[in-house]
Amino acid sequence: MKIFLDTANIESIRKFNDMGLLDGITTNPSLLSKEGRNPKEGMKEITEIIKGDVSLEVVSTDYMGMITEGKRLREYGNNVVVKVPMTSDGLKACKTLSSDGIPVNVTLIFSPNQALLAAKSGAKYVSPFIGRLDDIGQNGMNLIAEIKTIFSNYDFKTEILVASVRHPIHVVDAAKIGADVVTLPPAVLDKMLKHPLTDIGLNSFLEDWKKLHEKTGIDI
Ligand code: G3P
Repeated sequence: MKIFLDTANIESIRKFNDMGLLDGITTNPSLLSKEGRNPKEGMKEITEIIKGDVSLEVVSTDYMGMITEGKRLREYGNNVVVKVPMTSDGLKACKTLSSDGIPVNVTLIFSPNQALLAAKSGAKYVSPFIGRLDDIGQNGMNLIAEIKTIFSNYDFKTEILVASVRHPIHVVDAAKIGADVVTLPPAVLDKMLKHPLTDIGLNSFLEDWKKLHEKTGIDI
């Protein structure tokens, strides 16, 4: 399963990229707004740091606007995936951009039928938002399982990019289902790294080594 970071924060991107963990990045207008800097500079910088796919989202809601913005976003780098919303115009833009060789991520997917239609329109990725379904009392992970079954039944090449991930258990469940990608807020990736027994074990190793060093005076 590929891991993307769901952020426009350069410091977090560098931190996890330096660990070799990142296959790509997803951004959206809210994440760019959170950083509060020049969005063009921010988007360009991300496409330069990351070798894998970087999703950059259009903000037009009409077909022509999405095409114009999509082509402009693609100029930031060959790794740019244009993110369009799951609307009629978004699917039309997905079809055109995909036919022109520009990969598309259809975002704000909340039902299996929406995922099916986005795949039919030629999307490289569909982004089901599982956390927001959980928030309204539905089971977001069931949606991932349903999309996985549908895409497997018909051998769609479109990848399932699990978005709106809120905690590490979402990641384990998505991996068990066989989702292609999870996009993670930095805080979730941080939590995945940690286990209290790792910290306890490390402290104990270091204390024992210190005792041995005090006795022998020998370094590694
Ligand atoms: O990529 C966008 C998606 O992950 C949104 O997450 O937490 O705002 O529902 P959230």
